[in-house]
Amino acid sequence: MSEEHGRHVPVLVEECLRFLEPERGGLFVDCTVGLGGHAEAILERGPRARLLAIDRDPEALALAAERLRPFADRVRFLRGNFHRLAELLDEEPVPPTPLAGVLADLGVSSLQLDTPRRGFSFRFDAPLDMRMGDGELTAATIVNQYGETDLERIFRDYGEERQARRVARALVEARREAPISTTGELKAVLERAKGGRRHGREGRVDPATRVFQALRIEVNQELAGLGDFLDQAVRLLEGGGRLVVLSYHSLEDRIVKHRLRHMARGEVDRVTGRPLAETRLIEVLTKKPVRPTDEEVAFNPRSRSARLRAARRL
Ligand SMILES: C[S@@+](CC[C@H](N)C(=O)[O-])C[C@H]1O[C@@H](n2cnc3c(N)ncnc32)[C@H](O)[C@@H]1O
Repeated sequence: MSEEHGRHVPVLVEECLRFLEPERGGLFVDCTVGLGGHAEAILERGPRARLLAIDRDPEALALAAERLRPFADRVRFLRGNFHRLAELLDEEPVPPTPLAGVLADLGVSSLQLDTPRRGFSFRFDAPLDMRMGDGELTAATIVNQYGETDLERIFRDYGEERQARRVARALVEARREAPISTTGELKAVLERAKGGRRHGREGRVDPATRVFQALRIEVNQELAGLGDFLDQAVRLLEGGGRLVVLSYHSLEDRIVKHRLRHMARGEVDRVTGRPLAETRLIEVLTKKPVRPTDEEVAFNPRSRSARLRAARRL
């Protein structure tokens, strides 16, 4: 999404619509409704489409509801974690399946990034929170209570931080003096630990970026349930139904790519080693991930790392 909520533009929106084909009508689920940009486009493009709009963030749901008021008779809002998509739908008064399409625009919204008190961004000094929903784990707990080895693992695995060990050690040393409770304090420790140096490929990346990403992923357990979610989504789709996933870093994209590939190949016969065509669940519609054009990135800088993958249920 782009900078301001008032005029925020959803990422790769035309491409999402091309794959979702809301013109077909039927029930679509936007698993990450955020500020409702994609949802609005789906409802506009598909006059016969109905939408179930999910988000774990109540503030996002309230804003999306306002934006989608013109379509009120075709939208239902549901607060929850899409990692439990099948259960969420089961809990509906009339379980609404099968689905014509499922969209997941992963990660953090501009509302979350731009609201200082939520602690997602090192652009503002704020308490270290970073919760998208109402989980108990905050970034402050991780920073002040996780052991050095766990911190290093998170920074390396979720932030792809090359100096994970050095940064973890610096944090543990710093917190012995006093707890690290704000984004500003954390940023200062990171800058000291990394010596303000930026290495090779990190040239243009702020020294705090990777650690902030890693903490956010751990706080919200963003990767843990992603594979499971893809399985659930595919099984809930009707024949010909579409799944579209937008990811914003290589860790997420890797999970999406592998899981889709696995479901497209189906089971393998143990004796012959050949794929069993009848067990194939989907056809992958994107050989390579779809990326935004230079124009889109110039207009909407937050789209720059987006990768879209889409599949059709067989
Ligand atoms: C990139 S934004 C979506 C923006 C939206 N497509 C739009 O056009 O406004 C991602 C949203 O997904 C939500 N989210 C992230 N992970 C979630 C999860 N596991 N379950 C439910 N919502 C989630 C976040 O709270 C955030 O509002």
